[in-house]
Amino acid sequence: MAQHSVFSVAEEQGGLVYSGFRLQARSLVPVGRPTREQWSDCLDYLMHLEQHLHFWIGDLLAYGERRWGTTYADMVEETGYDPGTLRNLRWVATRVDVAQRRENLTFAHHQEVARLSPAQQEAVLALAAAQGWSRDGVRKEAYRVTESGRPPVSQAATPDPGLCHGDCRDVLAQLPDESIDLLLTDPPYGMNYVSPKRILPFPQMVNDDGDTAVAVLDGALALAAQKLKPDSHVYVFSSWKTYRQMAAIVRKHFELGNVLVWVKNNWGVGDLEGGYGEQQELILFAHKGRRPLNGDAESNVLPFNRVGTNQMQHPTQKPVALLEYLIGKSSGEGGLVVDPFMGSGSTCVAARNAQRRYIGIEIDRQWYEQALQRLADPTWED
Ligand SMILES: C[S@@+](CC[C@H](N)C(=O)[O-])C[C@H]1O[C@@H](n2cnc3c(N)ncnc32)[C@H](O)[C@@H]1O
Repeated sequence: MAQHSVFSVAEEQGGLVYSGFRLQARSLVPVGRPTREQWSDCLDYLMHLEQHLHFWIGDLLAYGERRWGTTYADMVEETGYDPGTLRNLRWVATRVDVAQRRENLTFAHHQEVARLSPAQQEAVLALAAAQGWSRDGVRKEAYRVTESGRPPVSQAATPDPGLCHGDCRDVLAQLPDESIDLLLTDPPYGMNYVSPKRILPFPQMVNDDGDTAVAVLDGALALAAQKLKPDSHVYVFSSWKTYRQMAAIVRKHFELGNVLVWVKNNWGVGDLEGGYGEQQELILFAHKGRRPLNGDAESNVLPFNRVGTNQMQHPTQKPVALLEYLIGKSSGEGGLVVDPFMGSGSTCVAARNAQRRYIGIEIDRQWYEQALQRLADPTWED
């Protein structure tokens, strides 16, 4: 894509000239004999005109306001935009300095970072431009930066050999047989989970529709059965809503031993008017062969705090303390813990905290990069 600044537009008699073409009221005419490159450049410019227009109107409003007080009435009259839209255009234009604005991002991308500090804007926009993030991606990162106080995901997060980006079935197939000590995972439940956008603006989960989720879990557990050591444990998070389908798949490949109930400190906002608040989640506990639990026998009711909304990296993030507890009960130090559906890498953080080796696999690049960032920071323990 051409990288000419929108401000290179030169005013000439009878219209604006951009890249060898004069833009007039009802026509576009060549000035001289524009080259093919100028032609493409002009096309690119036209395709982004609406985006430029939003910044121009915002800048114009800001200027008018500085010079003559409010100019909204004139603007409403001229543009036909409602005052709310105009206020928004002016706000974004004043918050996002000209030097920060990226040619290959839309006005909407910039709007998502407008409330951040200039340094934060710069970091998030640079990543969004380099990695082709959608508006949703920018919104999520901006939310994460402001709410958690974490720095923006670094482009330079060192690749971690324990974290894999891809379909878990492809990655599991490459592991040596009987090499895994513990499988601990939280797969898509097949519920088309969507986080409440206004609270947690996360995108839709991959492979989370009913039949696909079942097929993916079935494929992953079939491979895991082959790759786990002879006497080992398997934990699969589940929900009462999909428990039957998920338990049937676990039973197909392992011996289902128990169902654990994770009891949270508080319950989520759901349909609280029509029913009871959800304060528990189910965890299927299964064996390959027979392995005793480490330490004392324990109750199958596990009280652990949920992850606070402000700390959430992933819409269905599980608490590291709970994962660390399960890892401690079912593996030894230095053992290999595998999570084929790692999301933001909580299982891997827990394994690292517990001095185990780990392999985490994630299909969605956004979460894979989030996990990279989390694991690259030795102070990130939860
Ligand atoms: C329920 S979430 C896991 C969240 C995780 N427990 C955490 O704390 O962040 C399931 C994850 O599996 C990923 N996923 C779906 N299909 C996959 C596949 N075939 N291979 C690898 N990851 C997959 C989704 O993108 C999603 O992030």
